[in-house]
Amino acid sequence: MRRGSPIMALLVMVAFWVAALYIPIGTLYAQDGEKAPVYSYTGVKKCKTCHNLAKYGAQYKVWVETAHAKAYETLKGEEAAAIAKEKGLEKPAYETAECLECHTTGYGASAEVRGAKLTIEEGISCEACHGPGSGYYKKKTMTGLSDGSIEPASVGLTLPDEKTCVGCHNEKSPSYKKFDYKTFWEKIKHSKPEAK
Ligand code: HEC
Ligand code: HEC
Ligand code: HEC
Ligand code: HEC
Repeated sequence: MRRGSPIMALLVMVAFWVAALYIPIGTLYAQDGEKAPVYSYTGVKKCKTCHNLAKYGAQYKVWVETAHAKAYETLKGEEAAAIAKEKGLEKPAYETAECLECHTTGYGASAEVRGAKLTIEEGISCEACHGPGSGYYKKKTMTGLSDGSIEPASVGLTLPDEKTCVGCHNEKSPSYKKFDYKTFWEKIKHSKPEAK
C-alpha cells in the first residue's frame, strides 16, 4: 500500500492530464465567447477638436496647463538626468521603459492599439485616464454617454477614480509625493459645463 498500486498511479496521472488539458481549454472558450473588442488610441488632438470648446467644458484647456501635459518633457530635464545617473540607467530617462511607462500614454501597447496619431510628446493625455478612444470619440457616442443611454464600459470609456491615479502615483515613482486624491484632483479638475 505504501508504495502505491500501479492502478492508483495511473489514476493520478489520468487525473493530472485531464486537469492540465481542461483548464486551458476552458479558459480559451471563456475568452472566445465574450471576446472584448480592441480599442485604439486616437491621440489628444482628436479629443481637443471638441473638448477645447467652452460649450463642452474646455477640458483640453485645463489639461494642457497641468503637469500631465509635460510629463514626457520632464524626462528630458536635468532632474530626470540626475535620477537616471543615480539609478545607473544605460540610456537617458526619455528612452528608458521604466520611466516612459508612467510618463507617457499607452506605453508598451501594440502598434495596433497605439494607432497612428498618439505621440509620446503628449505625455499623460486624456486617454491615459479615460481609456483608448476609438470606440467612444464620435459625437453621437459621446452624447449618448453623457445622457446615460450608453454604458461607458461598452465603448471602452473609463470614468476614472482614485484607483486610476495610484496606478502611477505610487512608491515606484522615484520622486514619489504622498498622494491625496482630493488635493491632487483639485489641481487637474475638469468637469462638464453644468457641473461647474
Ligand atoms: C466630436 C466631438 C467629440 C470628440 C472628438 C470627443 N468628445 Fe468627449 N464629449 C463630446 C460631447 C458633445 C460630450 C457631452 C458633453 C456634455 O454633455 O456636456 C462629451 C463627453 C465626454 C465625457 C463625459 C462622458 C460622460 O459619461 O458624461 C468624457 C469623459 C469625454 N467626452 C472624453 C473624451 C475623450 C477622452 C476624447 C478623445 C479620445 C473625446 N471625449 C473626444 C464630444 C466629443
Ligand atoms: C499614467 C500615469 C498617471 C496617472 C494615471 C495619473 N498621473 Fe498624475 N502625474 C503623472 C506624472 C508622470 C506626473 C509628473 C508629471 C511631471 O511633473 O512632468 C503627474 C503629476 C500630477 C500632478 C502634479 C503633481 C505636482 O507635484 O505638481 C497632479 C496634481 C496629478 N498628477 C494628479 C493626478 C490625479 C488626480 C490622477 C487621477 C485622476 C492622476 N494624476 C493620474 C502620472 C500619472
Ligand atoms: C490624470 C487623469 C485624467 C486625465 C489626463 C484626463 N482626465 Fe478627464 N477626468 C478624470 C477624472 C478623475 C474625472 C472625474 C470623474 C468624476 O466626475 O468623478 C474626469 C472627468 C472628465 C469629464 C467629465 C465627466 C463627468 O461625468 O463629469 C470629461 C468630459 C473629461 N474628463 C474629459 C477629459 C479630456 C477631454 C481630457 C484630455 C484633454 C481628460 N479628461 C484628461 C481624469 C482624467
Ligand atoms: C510609477 C510611476 C512612475 C515611474 C515608474 C516614474 N515616474 Fe517620474 N513621476 C511620477 C509621478 C506620479 C510624478 C509626480 C510627482 C509624484 O507624485 O511622484 C513624477 C515626477 C517626476 C519628476 C518631476 C519631479 C517633481 O519634483 O515633480 C521627474 C524629474 C521624474 N518623475 C523622473 C522620472 C524618471 C527619470 C523615471 C525613471 C527612472 C521616472 N520618473 C519613473 C511617476 C513615475
